Amino acid sequence: MSQKILTAAGYHRATSYRRHGLTPHSLDWAHQPVPVKRYPQPDRVPLDHDRKLPPLDYPGIMRHASPGHPAAPDIQVMATVFRLAHDVTARAMHGGQPFHYRSVASAGALYPFELYLAAHHIDGLAPGLYHYNLFDFSLTALRRGPVPAIPPVNRGIAATFYITGIFFRSAWKYRSRAYRYVLLDAGHLLENLRLALGALGMDFSIHLDFDDRRAATLLGLDPRREACLVGVHLHGAPAAEMGTGAAGDPKPLAGDILRASVVSDREVAYPDILRIHRAGHAVETGSAGAPPELAVMKKTPASWIGLDPPEFPVPADYARILGQRRSRRNFLSASVSRADLMSFLDLVTGHMGAASAMPPSCRSALATGFLAGSGMPVSPGFYLLDPDARRLGCVSGGGFTESMARACLDQMWLKHAGLHLLFMTDLDALDRTWGPRGYRYAMIEAGRLGQQVYLAATAMGWGACGIGAIYDREAADLLDLSDDGALLYLVGAGPVKRR
Ligand SMILES: Cc1cc2nc3c(=O)[nH]c(=O)nc-3n(C[C@H](O)[C@H](O)[C@H](O)COP(=O)(O)O)c2cc1C
Repeated sequence: MSQKILTAAGYHRATSYRRHGLTPHSLDWAHQPVPVKRYPQPDRVPLDHDRKLPPLDYPGIMRHASPGHPAAPDIQVMATVFRLAHDVTARAMHGGQPFHYRSVASAGALYPFELYLAAHHIDGLAPGLYHYNLFDFSLTALRRGPVPAIPPVNRGIAATFYITGIFFRSAWKYRSRAYRYVLLDAGHLLENLRLALGALGMDFSIHLDFDDRRAATLLGLDPRREACLVGVHLHGAPAAEMGTGAAGDPKPLAGDILRASVVSDREVAYPDILRIHRAGHAVETGSAGAPPELAVMKKTPASWIGLDPPEFPVPADYARILGQRRSRRNFLSASVSRADLMSFLDLVTGHMGAASAMPPSCRSALATGFLAGSGMPVSPGFYLLDPDARRLGCVSGGGFTESMARACLDQMWLKHAGLHLLFMTDLDALDRTWGPRGYRYAMIEAGRLGQQVYLAATAMGWGACGIGAIYDREAADLLDLSDDGALLYLVGAGPVKRR
């Protein structure tokens, strides 16, 4: 068993849900993980939440949000980035406890991710390492003084954002399967961050490959509990003027900072999570840059339809969309026009494939498609998206959405969703090309695109809901995927009942 966990395919299969094979598990509510890191005597830097956000047009961002120009950012701009990346959007009481809705979706609303900033050259913010606290909109200084840039790159770096995942926040509910959600959720947050940087015209680069141990030491993480998953460099003036971060290895931070990775008084360690994460420590470069052949499906599409983007996309205020994004499950089998479907697909595919700012490994680790339900302007069926050729291919015709709702742990409301966006991979190809680290590429990319589906649906006045609860093989068989083909994530989207 443990040997199997050391591969993407092994971990994914070992944590698959099987009908009649789920072991009952009651939630330990008395030891629910806390949603915020608790640092001792935090050295806080308040951020300004009152400043008006600049007007940002969402379709415009989607058309141009690839890395922009090097800049000399100041702390006000960084505050705007944090607000757009991860903010509280509403407050409510759930079961007598305060609950904060956020601009990022998260499996089970467990929010395993955290965001850090290594400041190298930010006007108004001293060089150092900071943790972002979205609840009081502040930064907590964890290091003061120059810090190394991880991973090193040969370009000027003004700052680096790091996204981490705290395993037990999700494992409290999902046990060994939680690594999937930690990665998917990190992808959701990454997409908001990427869009924020792109919307503000900044130049950035996204990294999933770095030395895991160095990153954990820099960020002061307890590596048994919290892992760095993504680094995003914000580029400034040329390297010669700005530098590429302090030289040398970061010194370990104090034990009480590492203890902030503890989120519950009674944590359970799930060895499979640590095994698959640690198995991915080595960065393998892949097959000399050539993208792997993903054998996800047994069949290839028999016919293709061109994606024709709308000439004049309807403007939509990006800050409003972020604020209104929610998981909605009250789908309606209403009819959708061809123009609306094309607008939606244009938004969703705008940053897929070659147009994406993601590392090539992420772009080539995933195949994307959708199930069209009744009411869609294309015949019901299973379609593959080809973002580079701007087309969609019909793999199989027929009504799939009810059977898919059943394969998603009988979440039958999902059968009314006009579209089921499908994020799929070939698990064996991940292992062969990149080793177990390939699992991170595919899952983080799936989560990133899932967040995009939520935002695009909100812009269209539709609803969306991520689905991680899947009887894995049942769903793969329904789609007639290959033996190593897997449906990693599904997001239902379409018209919803108006309140
Ligand atoms: C990776 C992922 C998996 C999810 N899986 C499910 C699911 O299987 N069923 C469901 O009803 N909601 C699912 N959700 C939606 C979350 O429950 C929802 O994001 C969370 O409760 C926060 O609510 P909000 O999205 O409205 O802010 C999922 C979300 C994500 C990001």
